[in-house]
Amino acid sequence: MAEDLDIVKGNKEEKYQSLVPQIKGLLTGEDDVVANMANVAAALKEQFQWLWVGFYVVKDNELVLAPFQGPVACTRIKKGRGVCGSCWEEAKTLIVPDVEKFPGHIACSSISKSEIVVPVMKEGEVVAVLDIDSEAYDFFDDTDKKYLEMVVALINF
Ligand code: SME
Repeated sequence: MAEDLDIVKGNKEEKYQSLVPQIKGLLTGEDDVVANMANVAAALKEQFQWLWVGFYVVKDNELVLAPFQGPVACTRIKKGRGVCGSCWEEAKTLIVPDVEKFPGHIACSSISKSEIVVPVMKEGEVVAVLDIDSEAYDFFDDTDKKYLEMVVALINF
């Protein structure tokens, strides 16, 4: 496995198109889910430089903090709480252009202004979520949704 990512400049679509096959390569031949979540978070952070990118996994009916890149974060989130807990409950990707306007948003960092949370599904159940925060308002859109859903589907939970 090549250890260095090829980081590209360009628009969002071009960045994802370059990164997704590289993530596929990183995951090939490794079946440890923690190792794979760690490399996915690192690869996304390296390419996009978002404020925070990482996973929460479902454990004992809570979301528990898992591999991430960025500032320290809250460790446990209940179903239906915050953007992550809502994504888990609704089993669909949530895009929040202004976190202050999302009822019950959990502010791990006061710098975070917008957020996208993508569910990781296994056999019809949410087993984890991928959470990404930006310091800018309205930073995430359907292009992020499309590629991030593709990325989480590559992880063999
Ligand atoms: N803002 C999230 C909590 C997790 S942190 O952003 C890393 C939420 O409302 O669920």
